Amino acid sequence: MSCWAVIVAAGRGERAGLGRNKVFYAIDGHAVLTRCLDVFERCGRFDGAVLVLSEADEAAFMALRAAEGPFPLIKHVVRGGATRRDSVYHGLLCLPEDTEIVAIHDAARPFVSDEVIEATLASARACGSGVISTPVVDTIKHVMPDGGVRSLDRATLRAVQTPQTFDYQKILEAHRRAQAENLPVTDDAMLFEHYYGGVRLVTAVGAEENRKLTTKADFEALSAQAAPDVRVGQGYDVHRLAEGRRLVLCGVTIPWAMGLDGHSDADVAVHALMDALLGALGLGDIGHHFPDTDPAYKGADSMRLLAVVMDKVRAAGYRVGNADITIVAQRPKLAPYMEAMRTSVAGGLSVDASRVNVKATTTERLGFEGEGLGISAQAVALLVK
Ligand code: CTP
Ligand code: MG
Repeated sequence: MSCWAVIVAAGRGERAGLGRNKVFYAIDGHAVLTRCLDVFERCGRFDGAVLVLSEADEAAFMALRAAEGPFPLIKHVVRGGATRRDSVYHGLLCLPEDTEIVAIHDAARPFVSDEVIEATLASARACGSGVISTPVVDTIKHVMPDGGVRSLDRATLRAVQTPQTFDYQKILEAHRRAQAENLPVTDDAMLFEHYYGGVRLVTAVGAEENRKLTTKADFEALSAQAAPDVRVGQGYDVHRLAEGRRLVLCGVTIPWAMGLDGHSDADVAVHALMDALLGALGLGDIGHHFPDTDPAYKGADSMRLLAVVMDKVRAAGYRVGNADITIVAQRPKLAPYMEAMRTSVAGGLSVDASRVNVKATTTERLGFEGEGLGISAQAVALLVK
C-alpha cells in the first residue's frame, strides 16, 4: 500500500522568538527538522515524503541537507502558503496519484516516535483516519462571547497532535473544498470532521512526549535539559624546602623558618591549581606557559600567574565550578591559615569561597614531605561553560 508523509515546516516560528524558523533550531547538535525526518525515515513505513518549506528557508535547508542530510525519504520540496492549511494542501497536491495513505506531520514535533506513527497508520488503513491524541491534564474552560465561563468535562476531552493520517483521496478532496470555501481550520482533523462527519482519534506510547515546540519557554526548557558542558582537570607540583626563602601557599605568606625554593615564589599549591585549570582546558601545563628559563617569571607572584590562567579560562567561555587543593607537608601546621588560603584562592578564581576547598595532610613522616625536604600539592578543578 503506497504510503507517503507530508512534513510541514513552512511557518515562521514567531512565538518561539528565535529570530528564525524554529525547525532549524539544534537540539543536542541536530536540528528539530532533522530529528523529525530521521524518525519518518527510520520507521521504514513510507515510500516517500514531501517537505513543505517557505522560500525564505530554502538556503537554510540546503545548508542543513549538506550538514545533516541527505534525507533520502524526501522526494519533493514544495513551497508553503500563508496558512498551515495552505501549506498542507501544497504538499498533498504533489503526491503520486496512487498514494493510498498520507501522514501529515508538523516538523515542529521532533519527538514523534515509531509507535505514534504506526498507531495513526493502522487506524487510517482500517477506517480512513487516525489522529494521535492525548488525554487533557488541565481543566479546560469555554469562554463565551459575553465573557461567561463554562467548564468542560475533562474526561471527555482530548488534545490532538500530529501525525494526522488519512486516506489520501479523501483528505485531498476535503482540502480542495476547504480551499474553495476558505474554511478556517487549525488542523487537518477539523477539516476531515467537517466534510466526513468525524475522525478517529488514537493514542500510543510516546504520545505524551510528542509535544509541539511552540513558545520561547519550550526552547528554554530544551536548553536547560541539554547536557552541561563541563571540564575537569588535575594538577600536581613539588617544591624543595630551603633556608632563606619565604613560604607562600595559596598566595598567603606563612611564617616559617624555611620556604619553598623555585624560580617564582614557588607557591606549590597555586602551581598545582593552575595545572588543573590548564589541564581542564586542554592547554598543557604551567611549564609551557611560564617557562622557568624566562627571567620575566623570576620571583613571580604565582597569584599574578593564576590571573593569566583565569583569563584563558574566561576566553574559552568557562567559569570555575569548584576547586579542591590538597597540600602535603609535615610542617608547619597549616590549620591556622586554612581560611585565609581558601579566601585567597576564591578571589583568584573569581568564585565564592564555598566553591573552594583547601586541605593539608602530613605523610606520617614518610617520604620527602615527611622528612621535611619539600612540600607537594595536588588540585582538581571543574570548569563549567
Ligand atoms: N506551518 C506551515 N505553514 C504555515 C504555518 C505553519 O508549514 N503557513 C507549519 C510550521 O512550520 C510547523 C507546523 O505548521 O511545523 C505547526 O505550526 P506552528 O507551531 O504554528 O508553527 P509556526 O507557524 O512556525 O509558529 P508561529 O505560529 O509561532 O509563528
Ligand atoms: Mg503558526
